[in-house]
Amino acid sequence: MFSVSLPANGLLLAAVSLLLTRRCCSSLSVRDIPHIAAYFGTKTRYEEVKPLLLRDVLSVDRSVLRPPPADSCSPVHLTAVIRHGSRYPTAKNIRRIHKLSELVRRDASRGPEELRSRWEDWYTEDMDGQLVMKGREDLRQLAVRLSILFPSLLSEANVMKRRISFVSSSKHRCVSSVEAFQEGLQQHHELVPEYSHVVDDELMRFFERCRGYVEGVENNRTALLEVEKFKHGEEMEAVRRRMAERLGLPHLSLTPDLVEAAFFLCSYELSIRAIHSPWCFLFNEDDAKVLEYKSDLKQYWKHSHGHVISGLSSCPLFHHVFRTLDKAGRPRRSTDTPPEPASIMVGHAETLLPLLSLLGLYKDQTPPTASNYHSQHGRRFRSSLIVPYAANLLFVLYDCRRGPRLQLLVNESPVRFPGLETEDAPLYRDVRAAYRHLLDGCDFHRECEGRGGGRGPNTEL
Ligand SMILES: *[C@@H]1O[C@H](CO)[C@@H](O)[C@H](O)[C@H]1NC(C)=O
Repeated sequence: MFSVSLPANGLLLAAVSLLLTRRCCSSLSVRDIPHIAAYFGTKTRYEEVKPLLLRDVLSVDRSVLRPPPADSCSPVHLTAVIRHGSRYPTAKNIRRIHKLSELVRRDASRGPEELRSRWEDWYTEDMDGQLVMKGREDLRQLAVRLSILFPSLLSEANVMKRRISFVSSSKHRCVSSVEAFQEGLQQHHELVPEYSHVVDDELMRFFERCRGYVEGVENNRTALLEVEKFKHGEEMEAVRRRMAERLGLPHLSLTPDLVEAAFFLCSYELSIRAIHSPWCFLFNEDDAKVLEYKSDLKQYWKHSHGHVISGLSSCPLFHHVFRTLDKAGRPRRSTDTPPEPASIMVGHAETLLPLLSLLGLYKDQTPPTASNYHSQHGRRFRSSLIVPYAANLLFVLYDCRRGPRLQLLVNESPVRFPGLETEDAPLYRDVRAAYRHLLDGCDFHRECEGRGGGRGPNTEL
């Protein structure tokens, strides 16, 4: 057994979900996937972003590595910032699920019988956000794909000699994920499983230590006003009315939170048990887009460009990554010990989004608000695509004739640095120049403590 402390009834569940996961990943055919599966925001499966994985979980596209062919480059370092894999709902969402299933059983007068009498509410509060078997698979498979993509960095020798560093947030789901990643590496090289990682919340959970962020954004209703407004706005209201009608429920008994609970149930039943849940049939694709937008508003205003302090709170992680890259790219004599080949860091969507924002990625011209839903269909900021389960941001450093180069990949696809859009892998010194203001500043204590309380909304919007 793996060293996961499962909830009380967890062993049985683990066994059940293992069976289901097995069944899922080999044979859940594409048409069995709910039509709304790509709109689950941070509860989206990684496969929805990388559909090729539905056919082959180990499919790797080597053409994503794009240093200029004429510059004879080879990868010398990989820093991967990874989100934990698929997990159980948090206790708060489990309580909502209970409320919803009771309401539907008691009061629904229409709709699928599977929901009204036969659906079994099998969630218990002690599952609280823990990694599920599918989540372990997410990380194992990612590790294998990255080993195939970077054979010289995640090599057998580097794994055996423990030259790769592993850092995790203290949360159980992240620790389980970093272990699963190591299992993947070891399985790939047919080594005996062995775990070692360092827990570092200053790097992986910086957001809860940044007072300016906690007071100014997280606990500040005004800062998240757009989310509240949309939640009670006309688009959400229409989704709620349709769902109430489908179930024959009194319209007012169905709160926006319960509508969302039903939507998330569809996502959990898919990501945890690989089933097409009857809850999915309560929503059409347009409903799903509205609910996705609601999640995007939350991610945008809580963890991303909506407030500059969210990005700035990730300064410790930003500096850590660039210090690691500096070291790995430094010229060496052949007698020096070679640099660390890879650094694997596992955290949360709340870890990745601020860092991506600080790097200037996924920033649209017009910020999403409660009132511009209809002009936001083509937005870049879609949390379903950016931070699904097992989302990952890869910094790939190459050694090249003209000096080191750096390439970014998000979820194994190339992403260009803002301001350096002509190349996939610009010279590292050009990247450093583009982020000079952050490399020379971005002081956590000054940004997070300095001005006390919050900082106003991002005026550069
Ligand atoms: C809360 O957010 C608003 C809007 O962003 C901001 O003006 C205000 O200063 C914040 N309040 C605190 C206590 O930080």
